[in-house]
Amino acid sequence: MGLVWWRLEMAAPAELEESLLWKLPLLGVPRVALQHPPEAPERRQLLAWLPESDWPADQRQELERALAPLGVPFDLGLPPIHWQRQDDEDWSLSWKSHWRPDPVGERLLVLPAWLEVPPEQAARLVIRIDPGSAFGTGSHPTTRLCLEALEALAGHGPGLRGLRVADLGCGSGILGLAALRLGAATVAAADTDPLAERATRENAALNGLDGAPALNVTTGSAEALAALLGGRGADLLLCNILAPVIEALIPCFPRLLGPGGVGLLSGLLVDQAPGLERDLLAAGWRVEQRVEQDRWALLRIHSASDVA
Ligand SMILES: C[S@@+](CC[C@H](N)C(=O)[O-])C[C@H]1O[C@@H](n2cnc3c(N)ncnc32)[C@H](O)[C@@H]1O
Repeated sequence: MGLVWWRLEMAAPAELEESLLWKLPLLGVPRVALQHPPEAPERRQLLAWLPESDWPADQRQELERALAPLGVPFDLGLPPIHWQRQDDEDWSLSWKSHWRPDPVGERLLVLPAWLEVPPEQAARLVIRIDPGSAFGTGSHPTTRLCLEALEALAGHGPGLRGLRVADLGCGSGILGLAALRLGAATVAAADTDPLAERATRENAALNGLDGAPALNVTTGSAEALAALLGGRGADLLLCNILAPVIEALIPCFPRLLGPGGVGLLSGLLVDQAPGLERDLLAAGWRVEQRVEQDRWALLRIHSASDVA
């Protein structure tokens, strides 16, 4: 007799998708997946599998209460959760089979850890990620905006060759790993969540990019990252965190980004961009570009004093 499972199903609005993928494993639910009907990629649905014996009704209610605050930053309520009891399902096949190789931009491929590179994608630069380990599976628009902006930078002039990169709020480490794949020399990464530090190390190992000097990661915020950089600002700063957090971090940017450096800032909603641009300008930064995807935006910044 095999295990009996509760299968959780809920609509996954774009704003909440990555937070749910990140939060559920922290709450003891590692078996998660996203799916959508082939004809409607925007109608994403979150699935999770919980052993029935570990998740009686009161625990499941507690789980729903713990997820509810994820909507607060976006002024969203949590969509209703549906529970379905399932006998004897091979969950490992169920949840893993929902993850697919994910081409991003022209050159990158985000690949779930257990999959092989599809032959038709063989020319792409592969970033292997264990989904569910931390925020940053590549499916969220803010992560994609950063990956595409990195690729665009890599395609100009000397590209990322030899650059020192700082990744603030590294999550799964996906952005720093992409930067290394695209030619950066080193990445210093930090995240306030200790699980993100661990996920970044593990994902770096999956890609054969672990260990100094390629990648250094620590738990903490701007101070810890500045310490990792050893007092010399990076050439490229990656920062995909919510707008209010970025705003609070602006005074730290001069210690993270050296003269002539470029910053890619995402995690902001389109309607938050003008306010953040004003704050950046007031602090001496020039916004060179704003790119939008769905309701999300990315700003590319440069120190105003470096620009003619
Ligand atoms: C939106 S996720 C981005 C993850 C990954 N870089 C990506 O682009 O997919 C934001 C990450 O920033 C971290 N974070 C939030 N506030 C932070 C802060 N003040 N300093 C450093 N990291 C922070 C969170 O723990 C989370 O892992």
